[in-house]
Amino acid sequence: MDLESNLQQMTATAAPNPLLEVEDLKVSFRTKRGLLPVIDSVNVTLNANQAMGIVGESGSGKTMLCRALIGTLSRHSAVITSGKLLFDGNDLANAPDHTWRQVRGRHIGYVPQSSLAGLNPVLTVGTQLIESIRVVKSIGQREAEREALELLERVHIARAPQVLKARSPELSGGMRQRVMIAAAIAQKPELLVADEPTTALDVTVQREILNLLKSLRQDLGMALILISHDLAVIEEMCESMVVMYAGASIESGTVEALVNTSRHPYTRSLRASRIDRAVPGQDIEAISGDPLTVGNWPAGCRFWPRCPLGDDACQHGQQPALAPVARQLSACIYADRIEN
Ligand SMILES: Nc1ncnc2c1ncn2[C@@H]1O[C@H](COP(=O)(O)OP(=O)(O)OP(=O)(O)O)[C@@H](O)[C@H]1O
Ligand SMILES: [Mg+2]
Repeated sequence: MDLESNLQQMTATAAPNPLLEVEDLKVSFRTKRGLLPVIDSVNVTLNANQAMGIVGESGSGKTMLCRALIGTLSRHSAVITSGKLLFDGNDLANAPDHTWRQVRGRHIGYVPQSSLAGLNPVLTVGTQLIESIRVVKSIGQREAEREALELLERVHIARAPQVLKARSPELSGGMRQRVMIAAAIAQKPELLVADEPTTALDVTVQREILNLLKSLRQDLGMALILISHDLAVIEEMCESMVVMYAGASIESGTVEALVNTSRHPYTRSLRASRIDRAVPGQDIEAISGDPLTVGNWPAGCRFWPRCPLGDDACQHGQQPALAPVARQLSACIYADRIEN
Protein backbone atom coordinates (compact mmCIF):
# COMPACT_ATOMS: atom_id res chain seq x y z
CA MET A 1 0.00 0.00 0.00
CA ASP A 2 1.43 3.42 -0.91
CA LEU A 3 1.94 6.17 1.63
CA GLU A 4 -1.05 8.26 0.54
CA SER A 5 -3.61 5.46 0.82
CA ASN A 6 -2.01 4.45 4.12
CA LEU A 7 -2.59 7.96 5.42
CA GLN A 8 -6.15 7.98 4.06
CA GLN A 9 -6.89 4.74 5.86
CA MET A 10 -5.33 6.04 9.08
CA THR A 11 -7.43 9.18 8.90
CA ALA A 12 -10.58 7.18 8.26
CA THR A 13 -10.02 4.86 11.23
CA ALA A 14 -8.40 7.28 13.71
CA ALA A 15 -10.48 8.10 16.76
CA PRO A 16 -11.32 11.82 16.90
CA ASN A 17 -9.17 13.87 19.26
CA PRO A 18 -10.82 14.39 22.63
CA LEU A 19 -12.19 17.91 23.04
CA LEU A 20 -10.47 18.21 26.41
CA GLU A 21 -7.56 16.24 27.79
CA VAL A 22 -6.15 17.11 31.18
CA GLU A 23 -3.02 15.14 31.96
CA ASP A 24 -1.45 14.99 35.41
CA LEU A 25 -2.40 18.60 36.07
CA LYS A 26 -0.95 20.25 39.17
CA VAL A 27 -1.99 23.63 40.53
CA SER A 28 -0.60 25.55 43.52
CA PHE A 29 -1.52 28.70 45.38
CA ARG A 30 1.24 31.27 45.53
CA THR A 31 1.66 32.07 49.21
CA LYS A 32 4.21 34.12 51.17
CA ARG A 33 5.76 30.82 52.24
CA GLY A 34 5.96 29.44 48.70
CA LEU A 35 3.77 27.23 46.59
CA LEU A 36 0.89 25.40 48.27
CA PRO A 37 -0.45 22.52 46.14
CA VAL A 38 -4.25 22.50 45.75
CA ILE A 39 -4.57 20.23 42.71
CA ASP A 40 -2.07 17.44 42.61
CA SER A 41 -2.65 15.16 39.68
CA VAL A 42 -5.93 15.50 37.94
CA ASN A 43 -6.60 13.52 34.76
CA VAL A 44 -9.68 14.13 32.66
CA THR A 45 -10.67 13.18 29.10
CA LEU A 46 -13.83 14.50 27.50
CA ASN A 47 -15.04 14.06 23.92
CA ALA A 48 -17.05 16.60 21.96
CA ASN A 49 -20.79 16.57 22.78
CA GLN A 50 -20.25 14.44 25.88
CA ALA A 51 -21.24 15.29 29.43
CA MET A 52 -18.92 14.58 32.32
CA GLY A 53 -19.68 14.95 36.00
CA ILE A 54 -17.13 15.84 38.65
CA VAL A 55 -17.89 14.90 42.26
CA GLY A 56 -15.87 15.20 45.42
CA GLU A 57 -16.30 16.59 48.89
CA SER A 58 -16.03 20.25 49.76
CA GLY A 59 -12.45 21.47 49.43
CA SER A 60 -11.32 18.69 47.09
CA GLY A 61 -10.39 21.25 44.41
CA LYS A 62 -13.35 21.12 42.00
CA THR A 63 -13.72 24.87 41.66
CA MET A 64 -9.96 25.37 41.32
CA LEU A 65 -10.02 22.82 38.50
CA CYS A 66 -12.80 24.83 36.79
CA ARG A 67 -10.67 27.96 37.12
CA ALA A 68 -7.76 26.12 35.49
CA LEU A 69 -10.10 25.15 32.63
CA ILE A 70 -11.06 28.77 31.95
CA GLY A 71 -7.66 30.29 32.59
CA THR A 72 -8.54 32.42 35.62
CA LEU A 73 -6.22 30.85 38.22
CA SER A 74 -4.03 33.95 38.43
CA ARG A 75 -7.05 35.97 39.68
CA HIS A 76 -7.04 33.60 42.67
CA SER A 77 -3.27 33.67 43.31
CA ALA A 78 -2.85 30.24 41.81
CA VAL A 79 -0.78 28.81 38.99
CA ILE A 80 -0.45 25.58 36.98
CA THR A 81 2.88 24.09 38.05
CA SER A 82 2.91 21.10 35.68
CA GLY A 83 0.83 18.87 33.45
CA LYS A 84 -1.12 19.36 30.24
CA LEU A 85 -4.43 21.03 29.51
CA LEU A 86 -5.23 20.20 25.92
CA PHE A 87 -8.31 21.81 24.39
CA ASP A 88 -8.98 20.69 20.84
CA GLY A 89 -5.38 19.47 20.72
CA ASN A 90 -3.80 22.77 21.87
CA ASP A 91 -1.99 22.80 25.20
CA LEU A 92 -3.28 25.77 27.18
CA ALA A 93 -1.43 24.96 30.43
CA ASN A 94 1.00 27.82 29.91
CA ALA A 95 -1.14 29.92 27.60
CA PRO A 96 -0.80 33.68 28.01
CA ASP A 97 -3.80 35.89 28.90
CA HIS A 98 -4.41 36.99 25.32
CA THR A 99 -4.86 33.33 24.27
CA TRP A 100 -7.26 32.71 27.13
CA ARG A 101 -9.28 35.76 26.10
CA GLN A 102 -9.86 34.01 22.76
CA VAL A 103 -10.84 30.72 24.42
CA ARG A 104 -12.88 31.81 27.46
CA GLY A 105 -16.51 32.41 26.57
CA ARG A 106 -15.99 31.66 22.87
CA HIS A 107 -14.94 28.02 23.22
CA ILE A 108 -15.37 27.28 26.92
CA GLY A 109 -18.34 28.83 28.71
CA TYR A 110 -18.51 28.99 32.49
CA VAL A 111 -21.30 29.14 35.01
CA PRO A 112 -19.47 29.92 38.24
CA GLN A 113 -20.32 28.49 41.65
CA SER A 114 -22.56 30.87 43.63
CA SER A 115 -23.43 32.46 40.32
CA LEU A 116 -26.78 33.55 41.78
CA ALA A 117 -24.77 36.35 43.35
CA GLY A 118 -22.79 36.86 40.15
CA LEU A 119 -25.01 39.47 38.52
CA ASN A 120 -24.40 43.12 39.24
CA PRO A 121 -27.50 44.29 41.20
CA VAL A 122 -27.15 47.86 39.93
CA LEU A 123 -27.09 47.16 36.19
CA THR A 124 -29.99 45.75 34.20
CA VAL A 125 -29.84 42.18 32.92
CA GLY A 126 -29.81 43.61 29.40
CA THR A 127 -26.80 45.85 30.01
CA GLN A 128 -24.83 42.92 31.42
CA LEU A 129 -25.78 40.49 28.67
CA ILE A 130 -25.09 43.03 25.95
CA GLU A 131 -21.69 43.68 27.52
CA SER A 132 -20.80 39.99 27.39
CA ILE A 133 -21.92 39.82 23.74
CA ARG A 134 -20.01 42.93 22.67
CA VAL A 135 -16.78 41.87 24.40
CA VAL A 136 -16.18 39.47 21.54
CA LYS A 137 -18.32 40.86 18.72
CA SER A 138 -18.05 44.28 17.20
CA ILE A 139 -21.76 44.84 16.64
CA GLY A 140 -23.98 47.83 17.29
CA GLN A 141 -26.21 48.33 20.32
CA ARG A 142 -29.41 47.42 18.42
CA GLU A 143 -28.06 44.13 17.14
CA ALA A 144 -26.59 43.25 20.55
CA GLU A 145 -29.99 43.97 22.13
CA ARG A 146 -31.65 41.65 19.65
CA GLU A 147 -29.09 38.92 20.45
CA ALA A 148 -29.59 39.39 24.19
CA LEU A 149 -33.32 38.93 23.70
CA GLU A 150 -32.73 35.77 21.68
CA LEU A 151 -30.43 34.46 24.40
CA LEU A 152 -33.08 34.95 27.08
CA GLU A 153 -35.57 33.13 24.89
CA ARG A 154 -33.05 30.34 24.35
CA VAL A 155 -32.87 29.78 28.12
CA HIS A 156 -36.68 29.73 28.19
CA ILE A 157 -37.28 32.99 30.00
CA ALA A 158 -40.85 34.13 29.56
CA ARG A 159 -41.47 37.85 29.10
CA ALA A 160 -37.87 38.28 27.94
CA PRO A 161 -38.22 42.00 27.03
CA GLN A 162 -39.24 42.82 30.62
CA VAL A 163 -36.47 40.68 32.10
CA LEU A 164 -33.94 42.47 29.91
CA LYS A 165 -34.91 45.72 31.64
CA ALA A 166 -34.93 44.18 35.15
CA ARG A 167 -32.16 44.22 37.76
CA SER A 168 -31.10 40.99 39.48
CA PRO A 169 -32.78 41.67 42.89
CA GLU A 170 -36.13 41.69 41.05
CA LEU A 171 -35.53 38.15 39.72
CA SER A 172 -36.03 34.77 41.39
CA GLY A 173 -33.05 32.46 41.96
CA GLY A 174 -34.05 30.28 39.02
CA MET A 175 -34.35 33.29 36.69
CA ARG A 176 -30.95 34.60 37.77
CA GLN A 177 -29.40 31.20 37.10
CA ARG A 178 -31.01 31.16 33.63
CA VAL A 179 -29.50 34.59 32.94
CA MET A 180 -26.06 33.37 34.06
CA ILE A 181 -26.41 30.35 31.78
CA ALA A 182 -27.50 32.65 28.94
CA ALA A 183 -24.32 34.72 29.42
CA ALA A 184 -22.19 31.55 29.48
CA ILE A 185 -23.59 30.24 26.19
CA ALA A 186 -23.71 33.60 24.42
CA GLN A 187 -20.82 32.66 22.13
CA LYS A 188 -22.06 29.08 21.57
CA PRO A 189 -19.03 27.45 23.21
CA GLU A 190 -18.08 23.84 22.44
CA LEU A 191 -17.79 23.19 26.18
CA LEU A 192 -19.82 24.51 29.10
CA VAL A 193 -18.35 24.18 32.59
CA ALA A 194 -21.10 24.50 35.21
CA ASP A 195 -19.93 24.60 38.83
CA GLU A 196 -22.76 23.43 41.12
CA PRO A 197 -25.40 25.16 38.98
CA THR A 198 -28.36 23.91 41.02
CA THR A 199 -27.04 23.77 44.58
CA ALA A 200 -28.73 26.88 45.96
CA LEU A 201 -32.07 26.26 44.23
CA ASP A 202 -35.18 24.52 45.45
CA VAL A 203 -36.05 21.12 44.04
CA THR A 204 -38.53 22.26 41.39
CA VAL A 205 -36.24 24.98 40.07
CA GLN A 206 -33.30 22.54 40.17
CA ARG A 207 -35.23 20.25 37.86
CA GLU A 208 -35.98 23.12 35.45
CA ILE A 209 -32.32 24.16 35.30
CA LEU A 210 -31.16 20.57 34.70
CA ASN A 211 -33.71 20.21 31.90
CA LEU A 212 -32.52 23.48 30.43
CA LEU A 213 -28.89 22.30 30.46
CA LYS A 214 -29.95 19.08 28.75
CA SER A 215 -31.83 20.88 25.99
CA LEU A 216 -29.04 23.42 25.44
CA ARG A 217 -26.56 20.59 25.09
CA GLN A 218 -28.70 19.07 22.38
CA ASP A 219 -29.49 22.33 20.58
CA LEU A 220 -25.92 23.62 20.57
CA GLY A 221 -24.11 20.27 20.31
CA MET A 222 -22.16 21.28 23.38
CA ALA A 223 -20.03 19.22 25.77
CA LEU A 224 -20.70 19.72 29.47
CA ILE A 225 -18.65 19.48 32.64
CA LEU A 226 -21.04 19.43 35.55
CA ILE A 227 -19.74 19.83 39.07
CA SER A 228 -22.11 18.50 41.69
CA HIS A 229 -22.21 17.04 45.17
CA ASP A 230 -25.20 15.05 44.08
CA LEU A 231 -24.49 11.66 42.49
CA ALA A 232 -28.12 11.36 41.39
CA VAL A 233 -27.77 14.56 39.33
CA ILE A 234 -24.59 13.30 37.70
CA GLU A 235 -26.13 9.93 37.03
CA GLU A 236 -29.03 11.58 35.24
CA MET A 237 -27.07 14.19 33.29
CA CYS A 238 -23.70 12.69 32.38
CA GLU A 239 -22.13 9.83 30.47
CA SER A 240 -18.83 9.82 32.35
CA MET A 241 -17.59 11.00 35.71
CA VAL A 242 -14.47 11.84 37.66
CA VAL A 243 -14.23 11.55 41.42
CA MET A 244 -11.90 13.98 43.17
CA TYR A 245 -10.40 13.61 46.60
CA ALA A 246 -7.85 15.98 48.17
CA GLY A 247 -6.84 17.57 44.88
CA ALA A 248 -6.51 14.34 42.88
CA SER A 249 -8.77 12.49 40.47
CA ILE A 250 -9.02 9.11 42.19
CA GLU A 251 -11.55 7.29 40.00
CA SER A 252 -12.95 7.89 36.53
CA GLY A 253 -14.96 6.07 33.92
CA THR A 254 -18.50 5.82 32.68
CA VAL A 255 -21.19 6.88 35.12
CA GLU A 256 -22.73 3.45 34.77
CA ALA A 257 -19.47 1.70 35.83
CA LEU A 258 -18.76 4.03 38.77
CA VAL A 259 -22.31 4.13 40.07
CA ASN A 260 -22.77 0.37 39.94
CA THR A 261 -19.31 -1.03 40.63
CA SER A 262 -16.95 1.58 42.00
CA ARG A 263 -13.32 0.60 42.36
CA HIS A 264 -12.19 3.12 44.93
CA PRO A 265 -13.24 3.01 48.62
CA TYR A 266 -13.95 6.77 48.59
CA THR A 267 -16.37 6.47 45.64
CA ARG A 268 -17.90 3.47 47.36
CA SER A 269 -18.54 5.50 50.50
CA LEU A 270 -19.98 8.36 48.42
CA ARG A 271 -22.46 5.87 46.99
CA ALA A 272 -23.26 4.51 50.45
CA SER A 273 -24.02 8.02 51.72
CA ARG A 274 -26.49 8.83 48.92
CA ILE A 275 -29.59 10.41 50.36
CA ASP A 276 -31.74 9.56 47.33
CA ARG A 277 -31.07 5.84 47.91
CA ALA A 278 -31.71 5.99 51.65
CA VAL A 279 -34.06 3.38 53.10
CA PRO A 280 -36.58 4.87 55.57
CA GLY A 281 -35.69 3.89 59.14
CA GLN A 282 -32.09 2.99 58.25
CA ASP A 283 -29.12 5.24 59.00
CA ILE A 284 -27.25 6.72 56.04
CA GLU A 285 -23.63 5.58 56.09
CA ALA A 286 -21.51 8.67 56.78
CA ILE A 287 -17.91 8.79 55.54
CA SER A 288 -15.79 8.43 58.68
CA GLY A 289 -13.07 10.93 59.62
CA ASP A 290 -12.69 14.59 58.71
CA PRO A 291 -12.32 16.07 55.24
CA LEU A 292 -8.76 17.17 54.48
CA THR A 293 -7.68 20.74 53.93
CA VAL A 294 -4.98 21.89 51.51
CA GLY A 295 -1.53 21.70 53.04
CA ASN A 296 -2.59 18.83 55.32
CA TRP A 297 -2.53 15.90 52.96
CA PRO A 298 -1.00 12.74 54.45
CA ALA A 299 1.80 10.82 52.70
CA GLY A 300 0.80 7.86 50.57
CA CYS A 301 -2.82 7.53 49.53
CA ARG A 302 -4.59 10.65 50.83
CA PHE A 303 -7.71 8.65 51.69
CA TRP A 304 -5.99 6.04 53.87
CA PRO A 305 -6.77 7.61 57.31
CA ARG A 306 -10.50 7.32 56.49
CA CYS A 307 -10.37 4.14 54.45
CA PRO A 308 -11.72 0.75 55.55
CA LEU A 309 -9.02 -0.96 53.45
CA GLY A 310 -6.17 1.34 54.53
CA ASP A 311 -3.07 -0.52 55.77
CA ASP A 312 0.72 -0.04 55.98
CA ALA A 313 1.16 -0.27 52.23
CA CYS A 314 -1.17 2.71 51.73
CA GLN A 315 0.68 5.07 54.06
CA HIS A 316 3.96 5.57 52.25
CA GLY A 317 5.22 7.23 49.10
CA GLN A 318 3.01 9.18 46.73
CA GLN A 319 -0.72 9.31 46.09
CA PRO A 320 -1.21 6.22 43.84
CA ALA A 321 -1.67 7.03 40.15
CA LEU A 322 -4.87 6.15 38.29
CA ALA A 323 -4.60 2.66 36.79
CA PRO A 324 -7.05 0.62 34.73
CA VAL A 325 -9.16 -1.86 36.65
CA ALA A 326 -12.34 -3.51 35.37
CA ARG A 327 -14.08 -0.86 33.23
CA GLN A 328 -12.60 2.21 34.89
CA LEU A 329 -9.48 3.91 36.21
CA SER A 330 -8.85 3.78 39.95
CA ALA A 331 -6.12 5.19 42.18
CA CYS A 332 -6.53 2.51 44.87
CA ILE A 333 -3.82 -0.14 45.16
CA TYR A 334 -6.52 -2.58 46.32
CA ALA A 335 -8.97 -1.69 43.54
CA ASP A 336 -9.46 -5.33 42.56
CA ARG A 337 -10.43 -6.30 46.13
CA ILE A 338 -13.31 -3.87 46.42
CA GLU A 339 -16.66 -5.55 46.69
CA ASN A 340 -19.72 -3.78 45.41
N1 LIG B 1 -7.06 31.79 48.09
C1 LIG B 1 -6.90 30.62 48.72
N2 LIG B 1 -5.80 30.37 49.49
C2 LIG B 1 -5.62 29.18 50.12
N3 LIG B 1 -6.50 28.16 50.02
C3 LIG B 1 -7.59 28.35 49.28
C4 LIG B 1 -7.88 29.57 48.59
N4 LIG B 1 -9.05 29.44 47.91
C5 LIG B 1 -9.48 28.16 48.17
N5 LIG B 1 -8.62 27.53 48.98
C6 LIG B 1 -8.69 26.13 49.43
O1 LIG B 1 -8.49 25.32 48.31
C7 LIG B 1 -9.19 24.08 48.44
C8 LIG B 1 -9.95 23.77 47.19
O2 LIG B 1 -10.98 24.72 47.03
P1 LIG B 1 -12.14 24.57 45.95
O3 LIG B 1 -12.95 25.81 46.05
O4 LIG B 1 -11.59 24.20 44.62
O5 LIG B 1 -12.94 23.32 46.55
P2 LIG B 1 -14.30 22.67 45.99
O6 LIG B 1 -14.01 21.22 45.73
O7 LIG B 1 -14.83 23.48 44.87
O8 LIG B 1 -15.24 22.77 47.27
P3 LIG B 1 -16.84 23.07 47.36
O9 LIG B 1 -17.51 21.76 47.10
O10 LIG B 1 -17.03 23.53 48.75
O11 LIG B 1 -17.17 24.13 46.36
C9 LIG B 1 -10.07 24.24 49.68
O12 LIG B 1 -9.44 23.53 50.74
C10 LIG B 1 -10.06 25.73 49.95
O13 LIG B 1 -10.17 25.99 51.33
MG1 LIG C 1 -16.46 24.60 44.61
